[in-house]
Amino acid sequence: MPYLSPALNVMIAAARKAGRALIRDFGELENLQISKKGPADFVSTADSRTERVLVEELTRTRPGYGFLLEESGEIEGRDKTHRFIIDPIDGTTNFLHGIPQFAISIALEREDQLVSGLVFNPVTDEMYFAEKGHGAYLNDRRLRVAARHNLSDILVASGAPFMGKQGREDFLLELNAVVASTAGMRRFGSASLDLAWTAAGKFDAFWERNLKPWDIAAGILLVREAGGIVTDLDGRDGMMDCGHILATNDPLHRPLLELLRSRP
Ligand code: IPD
Ligand code: CA
Ligand code: CA
Repeated sequence: MPYLSPALNVMIAAARKAGRALIRDFGELENLQISKKGPADFVSTADSRTERVLVEELTRTRPGYGFLLEESGEIEGRDKTHRFIIDPIDGTTNFLHGIPQFAISIALEREDQLVSGLVFNPVTDEMYFAEKGHGAYLNDRRLRVAARHNLSDILVASGAPFMGKQGREDFLLELNAVVASTAGMRRFGSASLDLAWTAAGKFDAFWERNLKPWDIAAGILLVREAGGIVTDLDGRDGMMDCGHILATNDPLHRPLLELLRSRP
C-alpha cells in the first residue's frame, strides 16, 4: 500500500474536489467549440475557479502555509517553512480544444525541498502522486521509470515553444538531434503529465525549456521517486530557477544531455 502523509491526503482530496467541476466544464466545452465567441473566456473562468477551490481547500486544512500560484502569483503564509506550488490546469490549450490531456498539479515544499506532489487528470481519473522517500504511484500502482538504455529504442517527450515564447531556435536544434537518434518523439501539451508519464515509464525521457515552477514541481518529485534523474540542461539542480529540464532514467541521462548539446 502506498504511504500517504496527512498533507498528501489533503492535497489529493482538494484535487479531486476541484477536478469534479473541471470534468463538468470539459463536457460543456464541447458545446462551446462551435460557438462564434469560442470557449476562451469560459476556460479562463475555469482556470481561476479551480485555483480558488484548491487554495480554499488547502488553506482550510493547512492554515498558514504559503502558495505559489500560476494565476494569482505568490501568497505569503505565516508558516515560512511550507509552500504549495500549483498549476490549476496544466495543458490549457488541450482543455480549450476538448483534448483530455490536462492536469491539476500540486506540490508541497518544506524548507525549499519538494516533499509531496500530485498530478491529476480528472477526465481519465489518473492520480499520480509521490511522497519524498516513499515512492511514486499511479492510483495504487508503484511507478518505475523505463529501463531502456539505447538511444535508438527510446520515446522522448518535449514541449514546443509556441507563438510568443522564447527558445524556438534552441528547441529546433535539440529536436533535430533527438529525432535523428531515437525511436520517436511526442508533444502532448502538458508538462506535468509528460513528467508523470516519464515516471510511469511510458516516456523514456522528457526535456523542455522555459517552464515555470508550477509546470514541473510535482512532476520532478514523481520522476525522482520513480527512480529517475531530473536536472536542468547543464546537468545541475537548477530546473526550478531556470525552467529548463531533462528527466530520464540513470543510464540515459548523460547520453541525452550530450545529444541535446550536440546539434548535428
Ligand atoms: C503549458 C504546458 C505545456 C508547455 C508550456 C506550458 P499551461 O502550461 O505545460 O506542455 O509546453 O510551456 O506553459 O499554460 O497549459 O498551464
Ligand atoms: Ca502549466
Ligand atoms: Ca496552467
